[in-house]
Parts: sequence; C-alpha cells; structure tokens
Amino acid sequence: MGGFNQPVTHEGSWFADQLLSWYDRHGRKHLPWQQNRTAYRVWLSEIMLQQTQVATVIPYFLQFVQRFPTVHDLARASDDEVMKLWAGLGYYARARNLHSCARQVSHDHDGIFPDTVEALEQLPGIGRSTAGAIVAQAYNRRAVILDGNVKRVLARYRMIDGWTGKSTVQKQLWQLAERLMPYHRSADYTQAIMDLGSIICRRSRRDCQACPVASGCDAHKTGMTDRFPQKQIRQPVPEKTVSVMICYASDNPHQILLEKRPPAGIWGGLWSLPQCDVVHVSHEVFAATYGYQVERVEEVQEIMHRLTHFQLRIRPFWIALRPGCSAIHDDAVRWCGLEQLEQYGMPKPVSRLVDNFFDNHKS
Ligand code: ADE
Repeated sequence: MGGFNQPVTHEGSWFADQLLSWYDRHGRKHLPWQQNRTAYRVWLSEIMLQQTQVATVIPYFLQFVQRFPTVHDLARASDDEVMKLWAGLGYYARARNLHSCARQVSHDHDGIFPDTVEALEQLPGIGRSTAGAIVAQAYNRRAVILDGNVKRVLARYRMIDGWTGKSTVQKQLWQLAERLMPYHRSADYTQAIMDLGSIICRRSRRDCQACPVASGCDAHKTGMTDRFPQKQIRQPVPEKTVSVMICYASDNPHQILLEKRPPAGIWGGLWSLPQCDVVHVSHEVFAATYGYQVERVEEVQEIMHRLTHFQLRIRPFWIALRPGCSAIHDDAVRWCGLEQLEQYGMPKPVSRLVDNFFDNHKS
C-alpha cells in the first residue's frame, strides 16, 4: 500500500506488492555492496556496475574497499594507483570521474554523499539513474532508477515502442518508473526491479512462468515479449588501425618499454605500449619517432578490440633495439619486466599482447 498522502496508483501498488514479495523470497541479498551499506560503498558499486556485469565487478569492488575504506582514502590516492586498480574494468572515463567525485565529496561535502538526486547529479560520473540508486539504496528514500535491466522490464510491461536509448522513449520509461515506484522499502524495491530484470525478465530466455508481475504485463498477455524492448538500428562502427610496439633490447628480451597514455582520449592515464597510426612500422619511422636504433622488426598476429564508437584493429610488432637503448627512463616511458607488470594499470588487450610476448621469450 502507498504511504501517507502520496498518490500511488492502483497499477503501482499492485506491481510493487508483487515485486517485493517475490524479492523477499528470491531476490539478491548477499552482494558485497548490500552488506554494511554506506553511501560510499553504494556509490562505488553503482559506478562500477554502470557498464559491467555483477560477477566481474565483485572482485574489483572488494579490492577497492579494502585499499580505500573511505571516500577520503580514495580522494588522497594518486591517479596512477586508481587507474591501476581499475585496469581491466574498461570504460576508463568512469575511473577518472570516480576519482574527481571522491575528491569533491571529500573536500566540499566533508566526505558525506548528498542525499538528493539533484545534488548527486552535480557530481562527476553520476547521472539521474545512478543518483536515484544511491538515494534509494544508501538512504532508503524514494528515488527512481532506470538502468538497462529496468528499461527492459518496463518496456515489456507496458509495450513501450522504440529504442530505449531514444530521448522520447526514455521520457516515457521514466514516467512509468515513477508511477510504479512505491513510497516504502525504496532500497528493496530498486534492488527487486533490477533483480527481476537480471534473473527473470532477461534479454533472451526470459522466464515469464516465474515472473511475479506476468499477469499485469502487456507484452506477456499479448505474446509479444520477444518484440520488446525494441533494438537500436545499429550503424556499423568505423574501424581504426593502430600499430603498437613491444620494444626490447636485442640482448635482453626480459624488459620492454611501456608508455603512459595522455590523460584524455582512449585509455587515458593508463600504461600502454608505444603506438603509431601508420599501418607499417618501418625502421625509419620508429627511429625518427623514438630515437632508438632498430635491429629487427617482427610482425605478430593482430587482434581486434571493440570500443563504444569504433572497432580497433591492433597490429603488434616486436622490435629488437640495439643494446644500449635501455638507459631511457622518464615519467611517461618505463622499462618494465615481467615481475613489475602488475604495478602498471594497462588496458586488457595490451596486457594480452605483453603476456604473449613474455610467454614467447622465456629463457
Ligand atoms: N546494477 C546496478 N546496480 C546494481 C545492484 N545494486 N545490484 C545488481 N546489479 C546492479
């Protein structure tokens, strides 16, 4: 039932009652961020979960809270350390925003996360749905969320036409989410609707038999669950090619050169390999760019890596440099051996290439 003077529709109270009693029996209650629930832990988990699955997030979340038990600890950390712990989770702008947000909360809010959607939305990396999740989950106050799982549940429930990323469709989804949200048990309700999306109302292999709200679901009643949510008509993404260089002194293949990426752009702030846009790495280009003498160049198997707006074709070259180049060492370029690799936050495809190089050069 609704709260005191609040206009909860019949549609909303039935949906919430069904969902909450299903949640009590089947919902997730043991996720690490549901234990010892603080705004800091909820915020951290929500940022990690924005584009990444629960199972992938859990070990990262545990490492972060162990290393940075409070928002002040995270605010004080160096960029390098945050990027290193984030490495492998992808979408690195999230890590940079996470760090700036921690600094703002630590300095401007005495380490206390605001408890309203409006104030949270002012902070870096926090959009409307993440702000809603923090208010509902950390403060147990009424706030609406609309992440990918929830969009799917709602688009089916009321057969909302159009791709859910489109602003007119989003507007309808927010309105529906608002109508259905109850005035009690906000934390449980938001978890319940996300759980319904990930356990029952899955993208494929949905389990309508087990769904607590199937009898009210328009798509289910008309046998059209597979038509919702409607897909985006996908533009093919452009392809970019990049050559990356694994450089080592020809008399010592146990150390390679790493280069730090500039703060903005792809893999900003992470450690990577020297790279160039030309398709072929010639001795001359390499010597001119990096000033080292090249003895031998070997091209190895290329890999493809999908990013949001383009497909990256990565062409790796193993480059043996004339001995004596190893004196080079500055803030953005380091020689690194197998044992030191874990000190450097690297993007996943780059770690794969480096691991492959060392696997092939074991003595
Ligand atoms: N995705 C976003 N927030 C989540 C949460 N609290 N639990 C599970 N998946 C989520």
